[in-house]
Amino acid sequence: MKSLEEQIVELKKKRNAVILAHNYVRSDVQDVADFVGDSLELSIKAKNAGAPVIVFCGVSFMAETAKILSPASTVLHPVPSAGCPMADMAPDEAVRQYRREHPDAVIIAYVNSTAAVKAEVDICCTSANAEKVVRSIPADKHILFVPDQNLGANVSRMTGRKMELWPGFCPTHNRIMPEDAKKIREAHPNAIMLVHPECTPSVVDVADHALSTGGMLKFVRESDAKQFIIGTECGILHRMRKDNPDKEFISLQPIPLCPNMKKLSLESIVDSLENMQYEIQLDAALMDRARGPIERMLAI
Ligand code: 13P
Ligand code: SF4
Repeated sequence: MKSLEEQIVELKKKRNAVILAHNYVRSDVQDVADFVGDSLELSIKAKNAGAPVIVFCGVSFMAETAKILSPASTVLHPVPSAGCPMADMAPDEAVRQYRREHPDAVIIAYVNSTAAVKAEVDICCTSANAEKVVRSIPADKHILFVPDQNLGANVSRMTGRKMELWPGFCPTHNRIMPEDAKKIREAHPNAIMLVHPECTPSVVDVADHALSTGGMLKFVRESDAKQFIIGTECGILHRMRKDNPDKEFISLQPIPLCPNMKKLSLESIVDSLENMQYEIQLDAALMDRARGPIERMLAI
C-alpha cells in the first residue's frame, strides 16, 4: 500500500500539477508542496507557474487569486469549505454601495477578500506590501481600507495616513490579547517578538515587529538572535523550526489556530488530484475586473 505522500508524487506527475501551499497549512501538507509561501509570494508564484494544473492548499480567496492570475491553468482547491471568515465580512454588494456613495474615494482591498470585492476596488495589498500600497496613493485622496480594520489601523500608524476602515477582522488574530502577549514576553525577556499585522494595534505595541508570514520567515533566517516569540497562526512554526534548527520558537498562548487552513489534508490532495476537484470557476469578465487591482499591486 503506497503512502499518501507517494500517491501525491505519482498523481502530480500524471496530472502535470504543482502544489502551492500557504505557511499556515498543516506540516504534512507543507512538506508535499512544491512551494510554500505568504499571500504575496503565492500570488507571484501562481502568476508565473505556467502549470496546467495548480493544486492550491490555502483558503478560498487565495485559490481564487491564483485562478485570476493564471486563468489558463486549472486551479483546484481541495477543500472548498476552507474559507476566510474575514473575507466574508465584506460582502461585494456593500462595497459596491460604498463606491456609489463615495465615487472619488480610493478603495484598497486586502487580498483577504472575495474575487467579487477585488473586482470593485482600485488596488489590492497583502500584509507584505500594504505600507507601500498606502504610500502610493496621492495625499489628497480619501482611502477606504477593506476588510481588515487591524491591518488598516496598523498601516495607518506606520504611514501617518488617515484611512476609513471597514469593520472586518481575522478571528484568529483578533483573539490575541495584549495581556497574553505581555505575559509571554515577560517569561522570555531575551526573545524577539514578531506578530502579524492582523493583530490589534495594542498587541503590535507589545511586539518588536509586525510582519507578514513571509516577512517573519525572512527575519528569523537573517537574525542573529536565538529565541523568538511568534504571534501568528501556529502552522508557520513548522517551517521556522525546519529552516532554523539552531533557533527556538515560542508560540503565543493560547496558540493561534486558523480552523480553515487546517482543513487541507494529504487525503484531500489525493482526492483532488484523482478526481480533479474542486475546480475554481469564476466568470471571465469578473476575473478581468479583479485582475486589474491585483496587477496594480504587483507592479508596486
Ligand atoms: P500573509 O500574507 O502574511 O501570509 O497572511 C495571510 C493571512 O491569511 C494571515 O492571516
Ligand atoms: Fe483568514 Fe485569519 Fe485564517 Fe488568515 S488566519 S485565512 S485571515 S481567518
